[in-house]
Formats: sequence, structure tokens, C-alpha cells
Amino acid sequence: MNKNDIQSFEDVELLVNSFYDQVKKDPTIGPIFNDQVKVNWEEHLPKMYLFWAGILLDQRGYSGNPMMKHIHLSKKVKMKDKEFQVWLELFNQTVFGLFEGPVAEKAVSRARNIADLMKYKINHS
Ligand code: HEM
Repeated sequence: MNKNDIQSFEDVELLVNSFYDQVKKDPTIGPIFNDQVKVNWEEHLPKMYLFWAGILLDQRGYSGNPMMKHIHLSKKVKMKDKEFQVWLELFNQTVFGLFEGPVAEKAVSRARNIADLMKYKINHS
């Protein structure tokens, strides 16, 4: 069956919710979110809807500094090649499990670019 592309805020919510459902269950990065940072999902998920809606749908709303946040985070939790690799694999699987088209392609390519930059900044901070 053909899939649709990411077209609406509801699509972004579905993508983000599905992605973090996988993240929570993952043996490598799940414990970072669940046990080490103890993420408040009610705050984190809406922030991530806005972050991705900004990138993928040109919607305003996200204000934050993910680079600084992850540089700080990396002093407390393990965020190396392996963790980024797992994060990206789960993200790609989630995107292409649900959607197809140019916006879906953009989601995975932006995620990869941001992850590469984050890794670089973390390694050089
Ligand atoms: C090893 C990889 C990663 C880990 C373990 C990780 C983990 C986290 C954690 C624990 C938080 C904080 C949640 C909180 O404060 O409650 C967070 C926030 C966030 N993450 Fe990541 N992250 C990773 C990669 C990425 C990547 C590649 C992106 C973007 C493509 C990203 C985007 C964000 C954003 C936008 C926030 C919210 C920042 C804010 O508070 O404004 N993360 N991440």
C-alpha cells in the first residue's frame, strides 16, 4: 500500500509519538531517557512536535537551543557514535515505516545533518 507524505501537524505528532515509543523501548538509548534524564514526556513531546513542524512544515513555535542542550547532556550521559547511530536508525525506520515522499526524505536528511553537527560539537566541546 502506498504511504502518504508528512503533510500536517497531526502527521508530525504521529511521527514523534511513534519515534519516542521506539526510543523508550530501546536497550541502548531507552535508559538515557527513562532512567538517567527521567524525561518528562508531557513536556518533551509537545516541544518535539514544534521542533519538527518548524523544520518540515515551516510552522513557527519552537524556541530552544538543541545544540547547547545536548552538549550539556553529553557531560552527564553517554552520547557517542553508537548512541547517535541507534537514534538515527530508529528515526529513519519510524519515518519510512509511516510515510514516503520529499518531506519524509527531508526529515531523515535533516536528522542526519543535525546529529552529525551535534556529535562534532560534543566531541569538540
Ligand atoms: C544520542 C542521541 C540523542 C539523545 C540520547 C538525545 C536525548 C535527549 C534528551 C534526554 C533530551 C532532553 C529531554 C528533557 O530535557 O526532558 C533531548 C532534547 C531534545 N532533543 Fe535530543 N537526543 C539525541 C539526539 C537528538 C537529535 C539528533 C536531535 C535532532 C535531530 C535531537 C533533538 C532534540 C530537541 C529539539 C530537544 C529539545 C531541546 C529543548 O529543550 O528545546 N536530539 N534529547
